Amino acid sequence: MNFKRLEKNIVSVLESRLSSGRLSHIFSVSRMAYDLAKYFNLDCNRHKILGLLHDLCKEEKRPLQKKIIQKYYSNDLILLENSALYHAKTSYFEAQKLFSLSSEFLSPILWHTTGKSCMSLDDKVLYISDYIEPLRPWYEDSFLQDAKDDIDKLLLKILVKKISYTMKNNKQVHPDSLDCYNYLVLNKV
Ligand SMILES: [Fe+2]
Ligand SMILES: [Fe+2]
Repeated sequence: MNFKRLEKNIVSVLESRLSSGRLSHIFSVSRMAYDLAKYFNLDCNRHKILGLLHDLCKEEKRPLQKKIIQKYYSNDLILLENSALYHAKTSYFEAQKLFSLSSEFLSPILWHTTGKSCMSLDDKVLYISDYIEPLRPWYEDSFLQDAKDDIDKLLLKILVKKISYTMKNNKQVHPDSLDCYNYLVLNKV
């Protein structure tokens, strides 16, 4: 795979679809995912691409995204009711279509909003990078080191914050997030 050419193609699509604020976040996630992947001896180029693509459809019109969710997730009533979660799934399908990338390559994008039980290290790196990139208002200097020291502990901390926020706003918590929480707690993170 020619990563340089792929990256260039992706950036030009992102620039045509997303606002400048979203683009800055995406580039920041991409850098963070690259750095963390390098630290954990994962495929850094893959993570750079996953960071670039994770919010590909974030600003796509919700009714258009809902059609894709209805097609692939017709039984997932909580997902159908939570449009903020759509873009993880729609970005994954759109990235496959636009850039001919495999479902396996792109799979961490599917879980970057909810998490899930038994996440792979690749899943964790993208999930965490999305939350700890330096442009986030809640950014803390210790985040990167915390991730390197104990990625599961940081994952649990982020997950609890996200679930609490969802509950405070009287929104439904997606079962994948609860599965993620229960798995981490059961495995004594
Ligand atoms: Fe996202
Ligand atoms: Fe994001």
